Amino acid sequence: MADLQWWETAVIYQIYPRSYQDSNSDGIGDLPGITSRLDYIAGLGVDAIWISPFFKSPQKDFGYDVSDYCDIHDEYGTLEDFDDLIARAHELGLRLMIDIVPAHCSDQHIWFQESRQSRDNPKADWFHWVDPMPDGSAPTNWLSFFGGRAWTWEPLRQQYYLHNFLASQPNLNHANPDVRAALTDVARFWFDRGVDGFRLDAVHTINGDVAPYQDNLANPKFEPGPLPQQQQPFFRQLHDSAQLNQPAIQKFSEAFRGVADEYGDKFLMGELHGDDPVLASQTFTAPGRLHATYNFNLLAWAGLTVDELKNAISDAVAAFNGTGRLTFAFSNHDVPRSGTRQLAPLGLGQEHQEALQLLLLKLETCLIGSTCVYQGEELAFEDVQDIPVDQMQDPWGIEFAPAFLGRDTCRTPMVWKATAPNGGFSSANTTWLPIAKGHLKRAALDEAARPASVYTAFSEFLKWRKTQPALMQANQMSDLSGTAKQIVFDRISEQQTLRCCFDFETLTASFEEV
Ligand code: GLC
Ligand code: CA
Repeated sequence: MADLQWWETAVIYQIYPRSYQDSNSDGIGDLPGITSRLDYIAGLGVDAIWISPFFKSPQKDFGYDVSDYCDIHDEYGTLEDFDDLIARAHELGLRLMIDIVPAHCSDQHIWFQESRQSRDNPKADWFHWVDPMPDGSAPTNWLSFFGGRAWTWEPLRQQYYLHNFLASQPNLNHANPDVRAALTDVARFWFDRGVDGFRLDAVHTINGDVAPYQDNLANPKFEPGPLPQQQQPFFRQLHDSAQLNQPAIQKFSEAFRGVADEYGDKFLMGELHGDDPVLASQTFTAPGRLHATYNFNLLAWAGLTVDELKNAISDAVAAFNGTGRLTFAFSNHDVPRSGTRQLAPLGLGQEHQEALQLLLLKLETCLIGSTCVYQGEELAFEDVQDIPVDQMQDPWGIEFAPAFLGRDTCRTPMVWKATAPNGGFSSANTTWLPIAKGHLKRAALDEAARPASVYTAFSEFLKWRKTQPALMQANQMSDLSGTAKQIVFDRISEQQTLRCCFDFETLTASFEEV
C-alpha cells in the first residue's frame, strides 16, 4: 500500500491571528506573537497550522476582505515577520497553511477601485457588473449571507455588482481568465515563500458564470430553525440552483491544483458549503482539482445529538471512505465553540465541558481524512456569550444583535497565564475583543504544564495516534454502530483493525485491536 500523503491524516491547528498573541501592546494579535507561541503548538503534537487571513485589509470582515494578497496587514507585521514565522514553524516540524480568499476581495483592493470607475477600464470585467432590470431592480433575487441583497448599486458605472457577503466584499469574476491568472500568481507568491498549503475560503461562492444570471429557486423545505440566523431570508432559497456551486467554479480548482502540483507536496483544502455539500465536495475533489474539502457536518450551530453525530459522520464517510479527501472540524472562527455548543444536545451540564471536549477531539482525530482543531479547543474553552453589544466586532453579529450574537463568541483572545495582565495575551490597556474571564482558569501555558489538563491528555493521545497503523496508514472505516449513547467504528489498515468506541454516557474513548 502506498504511503499516505501528509495531509491525508494531518491534524491542523487553526489560528485566528487577531486573537492569538499580541507582541507590540496594541491589543491585537500579530505574526511575531504567533511565532513566539509556536513551541506551545508543537508541544501539542499537531502536524500543521492554518492561519486565518493576515493580508492587507480594511478589516471589515477581519481579514476576509483582502486589499493586497501579497502583503501583510500593518497590524499583523511585515513579510519579514512572516518569513521568521514560517522558518520557526518548519524548524519545529510544523507545516504551515495560509488562508486564501479567492471568491471576493475588499472594495479597497486596487482591482475593484479601478473596475468600479467605468465600463471600459482595463479591469472593467474583473467583477460581476450587471445592468439594472428595466424597473431598476437588481438582476436576480440573490441574497447575501450577511443579510440584504447580494447586489449593490455603483453610481459611477450605473450598474450593480455582486457580493455574497458584505457589500465591501465584491465577488471576483472568475469567468475572466485574467482574474484566475492573478490569483494563481498569488498562489505562486506564497508557495515561493515556503507555505505548505492553503485553506481556500468559501470556494462555493466563487462565481465564474456570465450574464444573464438566473434567479435562485425557492427552497421548498425551508423551515425557520430555532436560531435567528437560521430564520434569515437567505435560507428560503436553494442556492445551488444558480448563485453558488456552479460548474464554472471548477476552472478555478483546476488552475490552483496545477500550480500546487508544480510545487510538489502541497495541500489545497477548500471551505465548501451548499444545498448538497457532499455532492459539491465530490465535484470539487474530482481528479485534478482540490485535494480535500472542509466538511461542515460536525459544525452545526446548535450542536448535534449522538444520533445526529452518527448521521453527520456516516453521510460524509459514505462519500469519501477509502480516501483522505475531506477534513472534519468541530470548531472554527465562525461557529460557537464546540465545548459549549455540544453540551445541551448531549444532555450534559457545564461540569462535563472538559471531558466532553477531550472526547470530541479524540473522535474527530480518529475519523478518516484530516482534522482541524481551533485554538482553545485544546483548552476546553467555553463559548463567550456575554460580550456587551457595544464591544461586539463581527459585522454579521452587529447586523442582527441582540437576537443573534454573531461570531465574536468564539474569537476572544487566547489567554496564556491566569495571573498575567489580559491573561498574557497583551499588555495593552484594552484588547480588540474583551478577554474572557472564564477562560483564565484554563490558560494555555498553565494547562500545558498541568498533567491532568485537556491539553496534556490530547497531546498524549496524538502521540499514541501516530503509532496506530489503522489510523495512519489507510483512510478506511467501517459503518458506525453502538448504543444510543455511543459511537463505535473500526478503522482498518492492512496491518490492523482498531475498534474505536466513544461513549457519551461515561465521556470516555476506548480502543481495542480486533
Ligand atoms: C468564510 C470565512 C468567514 C468569512 C466568509 C467570507 O466562511 O470562514 O469567516 O466571513 O468566508 O469571506
Ligand atoms: Ca499587536
